[in-house]
Amino acid sequence: RVAGPSALVLFGVTGDLARKKLLPAIYDLMNRGLLPPRFALVGFGRRDWSDDDFRAQVREAVENHARTPFREDVWNQLTAGIRFVQGAFDDAEAFGRLKETLEELDKTRGTLGNHAFYLSIPPNAFEAVCTQLAENGLASSEQTEGWRRVVIEKPFGHDLESARELNEIVESVFPADSVFRIDHYLGKETVQNILALRFANEMFEPLWNANYVDHVQITMAEDIGIGSRAGYYEGVGAARDVIQNHLLQLLALTAMEEPIRFDAEYLRDEKAKVLAAVTLPDDLESYSSLGQYAGGFQGGEEVKGFKEEQDIPSDSRTETFAAIKLDINNRRWAGVPFYLRAGKRLGRRVTEIAVVFKRSPNLLFRENSYEEFGQNAIVIRIQPDEGVTIRFASKVPGTQMELRDVSMDFGYGHSFTESSPEAYERLILDVLLGEPPLFPRHEEVELSWKILDPFEKYWGDHGVAPEEYAPGSWGPESAHRLLARDGRAWRRP
Ligand code: BG6
Repeated sequence: RVAGPSALVLFGVTGDLARKKLLPAIYDLMNRGLLPPRFALVGFGRRDWSDDDFRAQVREAVENHARTPFREDVWNQLTAGIRFVQGAFDDAEAFGRLKETLEELDKTRGTLGNHAFYLSIPPNAFEAVCTQLAENGLASSEQTEGWRRVVIEKPFGHDLESARELNEIVESVFPADSVFRIDHYLGKETVQNILALRFANEMFEPLWNANYVDHVQITMAEDIGIGSRAGYYEGVGAARDVIQNHLLQLLALTAMEEPIRFDAEYLRDEKAKVLAAVTLPDDLESYSSLGQYAGGFQGGEEVKGFKEEQDIPSDSRTETFAAIKLDINNRRWAGVPFYLRAGKRLGRRVTEIAVVFKRSPNLLFRENSYEEFGQNAIVIRIQPDEGVTIRFASKVPGTQMELRDVSMDFGYGHSFTESSPEAYERLILDVLLGEPPLFPRHEEVELSWKILDPFEKYWGDHGVAPEEYAPGSWGPESAHRLLARDGRAWRRP
């Protein structure tokens, strides 16, 4: 699957995402032979840069963050198609220059009028950019042979209403099937593997329901703080940052029914159906938890508390940890709680989905064992130690019938020699190929906001302040109480 001739126009070239992920991913794709020689990269931004200045920026990003080794011949091939257009997002003249640049590339580089516009910019700039693209005839491919696509990055709004407004703006310019919404979790190998695990095997699916599953835990833990992202993070918080998108997508893939075909529409229909079936607990206070990391020591290193981070107000109420409980009101999942948690500065970096089974009714061995055992689980390890673990009870060798839980592991590193592409490589390639399955539809975004909005409203209306937690811990006390209330406990990944 090699992309065809095309130009990618990147808005937001100086951002963290462009530097650390997007530009390196473009180079890696070229290095892996997945971009054609007739590929062009156009940066658009306010900086007073020449093409060469932009090339130098790209090179630095590639040298520091690309996954594949730097090769002069690949770099030369990429750099010949690199241009920079200087201007503000509402500068009509600059968009006129962008049009000329793209026309020049269509002719000299052979990009054939195939243009993707990647908006790696704050959502409040979407309207200006979309309007300019439309007014300069850049959004529509009616007059040309080529295609036009737009890629948008989260946050898709900060609640349901603003998400709808944003969508109206984007879809008033680009038809729905040319809008590619990025949720980079869907670009991860292990996330795509959830479907393979569930639907390409016969031994898991019969157990994957309320008859056997006790509950599901989805954890996205990071050990880092917010770094230099205060401008984005303050006022947003963990729930909007990652639960609304990444964690609810993981929930959808874990809980959805099998699509009748592996095709974008069927896949997205099933995800939407299960998201629409999500119900919230009556008691939003007890079944949610907000935390904020305090200063202290993590891994022997002194780290700042969130309120002391650069550009964060000292009275900030933004949460850096959030946990919620959800139910899914359908036959498969009735009565099985889904617990979601996400946070920064936690014990370690790990994202996993744990499907925890009911205990065996057989009490035969209970009294012979000192510890709790026999809570079977299938743990899908999304990252960093990618794989799947199955936990079950086993007899401890010896003269007594003592039992203990053990695990059986599948690790990507052991089973495959192929390396996983970075999520953004896969997603950028799919945009250029026009392959939509890994991009959430607007409906999914709306449904996810419908799930989160009542929590946000409750927290706002009741002035729920995040509870401090120590760096390197597993979040605030209220998160532990949330599960303890149901007689359960979070797993220690
Ligand atoms: C982003 C969030 O979507 O995902 C960040 O905005 C978070 O806050 C990041 O750090 C984590 O991504 P990954 O791929 O490292 O798990």
